[in-house]
Amino acid sequence: MKQFLVLVTSLMAMTSLPATAAPSAERLQLCVSCHGVNGNSVIPENPKLAGLQARYASQQMKDFKSGKRASAVMSSIMTGIDDAEIELLATYFHEQKPVLAPPAKPLDPKLVAQGKEIYFEGIVGSAVPACSGCHTETGKGTNKYPRLAGQHGVYLVQQMLAYKSNARKNDDRELMRAVATRMTEPEIRAVSEFIQTLKGEDE
Ligand code: HEC
Ligand code: HEC
Repeated sequence: MKQFLVLVTSLMAMTSLPATAAPSAERLQLCVSCHGVNGNSVIPENPKLAGLQARYASQQMKDFKSGKRASAVMSSIMTGIDDAEIELLATYFHEQKPVLAPPAKPLDPKLVAQGKEIYFEGIVGSAVPACSGCHTETGKGTNKYPRLAGQHGVYLVQQMLAYKSNARKNDDRELMRAVATRMTEPEIRAVSEFIQTLKGEDE
């Protein structure tokens, strides 16, 4: 009976944790040193995390930790962060408001125009689907498809090339690798240029 009570109280403690707990200030300080205040990174190589879907972000963090998504920087950071804290961090950054900052580098209007067409219509000749079909028209994303709106172009190009070369291969059902391998590098640069103009406001 005593053992049973101990079990019940520890189960209660476990289930009540996520609702009230927040990531430690010390941990957050580490994240924002690279990902910016409230996850609004100003460093083009470091992705913005504000508004990123929690389910997607926590999966990425777990994959960095296990090595399924390769990143020398993020893998060592995730070592020693357990799944419960990963969920807290993912929720925290999801709840932060994305800041619509001007892009790090002035945009090329020709590339933006070409990228806009790819984003909303895909590339018919090479069977590239419209990005908006999954990532939504505003780029805000859904629970299944991550937010892209306003993300750094440098980071986007890097990631698309990583899918294309099979260096990033933790995507479920190879969805993004299938998209990226059908695109040329100039097309990837164009769509990444355009995505920086998306604001991700509510549809
Ligand atoms: C030293 C800099 C640095 C620190 C500190 C850091 N990150 Fe990162 N983070 C990166 C870089 C660079 C990437 C892109 C990795 C890649 O190339 O795939 C990244 C990627 C991510 C991603 C994937 C984003 C996406 O859109 O797929 C998440 C989530 C993330 N970091 C969360 C965190 C959290 C939470 C912390 C704090 C515990 C943290 N990071 C600390 C540099 C950092
Ligand atoms: C069929 C649905 C689908 C379509 C169409 C699609 N995506 Fe994705 N995209 C996804 C999914 C699912 C993920 C998350 C994959 C993962 O876990 O690595 C993703 C992830 C991404 C990422 C990584 C985001 C990050 O924060 O690291 C980028 C960049 C991206 N997509 C760009 C595009 C572009 C550009 C297009 C159009 C040319 C496109 N996607 C079309 C489903 C789609």
